[in-house]
Amino acid sequence: MNSEPNGVKEERYYFLSVLHTFKSYREQSMLRVQHKEKCLETLPYHHKEWLLKYKEDLENFKKCIEKNYSFIPLVLKHAHTIFDNMYCNDSTSHSEQEVGTLSEGLDKVQSVFKQLMRDWSELGAAERKQCYGPIINEIFANFPEEKFDRSNINVLVPGAGLGRLAFEIASKGFSCQGNEFNLYMLIVSYYVLNVCKKVNEYKVYPWIHQYCNNIKADDQMLSVRFPDVIPKPTPEKVYTTDDEWHCVATCFFIDCAPNVVQFIETIYRILKPGGLWINLGPLLYHYSDMRNEKSIEPSFKVVTQVINNVGFIMEKCETGVKTKYCQNPKSMLQYEYDSVFFVCRKPVSVDIIETTEESPELQKQYLFANKRDHSGAAIGPHFMLSSSHF
Ligand SMILES: C[S@@+](CC[C@H](N)C(=O)[O-])C[C@H]1O[C@@H](n2cnc3c(N)ncnc32)[C@H](O)[C@@H]1O
Repeated sequence: MNSEPNGVKEERYYFLSVLHTFKSYREQSMLRVQHKEKCLETLPYHHKEWLLKYKEDLENFKKCIEKNYSFIPLVLKHAHTIFDNMYCNDSTSHSEQEVGTLSEGLDKVQSVFKQLMRDWSELGAAERKQCYGPIINEIFANFPEEKFDRSNINVLVPGAGLGRLAFEIASKGFSCQGNEFNLYMLIVSYYVLNVCKKVNEYKVYPWIHQYCNNIKADDQMLSVRFPDVIPKPTPEKVYTTDDEWHCVATCFFIDCAPNVVQFIETIYRILKPGGLWINLGPLLYHYSDMRNEKSIEPSFKVVTQVINNVGFIMEKCETGVKTKYCQNPKSMLQYEYDSVFFVCRKPVSVDIIETTEESPELQKQYLFANKRDHSGAAIGPHFMLSSSHF
């Protein structure tokens, strides 16, 4: 008889299907190219003749997909370690084949390659300077080394992606925790942060799945090497468990909630009195087009009112901050966000505001949980494993 609680079983199922989806990357991505090859075959003879170079390009795309795929088994070898084997230590474990792949999974695997470019390649340095630079500078300015023992300053980075922002903050001596609920990101960031040993050891093709807006096929096959630096583990204590933070740093994150107000309230609640919230990003509300989600999309003006109503004091606010996100520099389509950058402070003396009807314990446990997706975990040497969901 299996006495395992339902939640654990679901998490294990989810974990296995993520692994299976990673493994299906090659096959599923090849299907797209094979479909193009079939389309090409149906064309009149002279079209085919004129499109011989395109046919050759498709062959080369397949080679890039193979190369991306060769990274996946390396990463998956360590995936079980991340959660102390909690997903594979019982006799009732189902095989990955049994649980199948996830419909949204291919996209997630493909976007991990782009995120590797943003967070861990030299080519991503410009994006990181735009997006992470202002946040890091603000943290440094508020906690100067001469005045603070930075190892006692707890910084939380919700929606940490592949962990570079959290890593940068931690490498300057802060106690920093990255929180991420996307298992695809967690599995890959664990590998980069804990296993990668040589600079620029690996090569991937981040934009190989972007078939449109290419001047030449080589632009689709632009490769990057990673990691551009080796994240070194630090032995000291870096984390406190009281869920009280001196600083919360969010980058391209607050629009990931169906209800941004809930994120703002949570950030307020977990900050220490006098604590700082630093944010940079657009309002590309992620749930906006999802029919089954109760998504709201307030303008930034309304968001600022909410921020005040929650109790924050906005100390700095800039709009029109030029930022890119996983952008192929060669593409004919260039997205650039006019992001907002703001710094808010929770007043030193605050009135307790009751924000939800849940018990305080439950509130603490779930932190930012808006959607029970899977185990949220913190990543890397400075980024302790945390089971909280944002
Ligand atoms: C747009 S990405 C930004 C990643 C990173 N901050 C950056 O700037 O590259 C948003 C990230 O937040 C994560 N995320 C979204 N909702 C979350 C939640 N409720 N709890 C934890 N992470 C979340 C996503 O999985 C994704 O990795």
